[in-house]
Amino acid sequence: MFTATIAPNQFSLSHIPDDLFSSIELLKKELNAVILAHYYQEADIQDIADYIGDSLGLSQQAASTSADVILFAGVHFMAETAKILNPDKLVLLPDLNAGCSLADSCPADKFAQFKAQYPQHIVISYINCSAEIKALSDIICTSSNAVKIVQQIPENQPIIFAPDRNLGRYVMEQTGRDMILWNGSCIVHETFSEKKIIQLKVQHPQAEILAHPECETHILRHADYIGSTTALLKYAIKSANREFIIATEPGIIHQMEKEAPEKFFIPAPPENNCACNECPHMRLNTLEKVYLALKNRTPEINIPESIRVKALKPIQKMLAMS
Ligand code: 13P
Ligand code: SF4
Repeated sequence: MFTATIAPNQFSLSHIPDDLFSSIELLKKELNAVILAHYYQEADIQDIADYIGDSLGLSQQAASTSADVILFAGVHFMAETAKILNPDKLVLLPDLNAGCSLADSCPADKFAQFKAQYPQHIVISYINCSAEIKALSDIICTSSNAVKIVQQIPENQPIIFAPDRNLGRYVMEQTGRDMILWNGSCIVHETFSEKKIIQLKVQHPQAEILAHPECETHILRHADYIGSTTALLKYAIKSANREFIIATEPGIIHQMEKEAPEKFFIPAPPENNCACNECPHMRLNTLEKVYLALKNRTPEINIPESIRVKALKPIQKMLAMS
């Protein structure tokens, strides 16, 4: 886990104006800033964002923005990706401690040793990894293009897939390709209770189960539809069904309810009676911290140039193959 440097006045409430929405809008204009937000952000942040999307959509936006400042309302690896694509722009993350359990499950030194055991393999890494892991990879993928990217690799080319074993297994099943998997996972997507999902399905027999491919196989086997956050949202809007059980971080339900207010969305319950289906990293960002980050122009993402240049290539490959 990286350590954060927080500006001294970061949490001083006396610096927070009453009307955060209009204050943020003013700062955005002043700085020529854009706010890119992931669907797992709290509702207020989604509502102030210029663009909300899944990891692929967010990287595409980051690659094409003409803004001078990118405020990334998401987690560290997402803001890092934006910085890799935009070395000359100021990239802000409202809370530098917003990490990712999946990215943390793949430390660069251990991964380099692992990779050395398979010199013939190419490395396809899920975007949920550090810049150092990206620098050790040949192609990056997201949950929305992983299958498509693996399908473009010649049959005789062996593949290492990192860091998410659940997405890796799902891609193997979809493509029929054997891949060497790094044994990483996301704490949020491994929290869902199969038993409670089955009980919910008994209570709501018409409900369709929509699941993210970071979920474990025993959850995915109950799913009516599997996809990235954007794909799940699009499916929920277009489906003739009116009830859905959502097996991913429940932040996405805010957009689902906005886009399809007549439909009913039930978050898939976690194993324990906790809020463990909410990503603790994503939820570190708040509207107050978004305001302070723009006002103070910190916390800023910086990446050593030697790593950035190496990490850029596999991201560019992904954008070209998507
Ligand atoms: P997508 O939004 O790309 O589906 O990714 C989900 C996720 O876990 C992001 O951390
Ligand atoms: Fe990482 Fe999981 Fe949180 Fe996504 S939901 S940021 S994969 S810990």
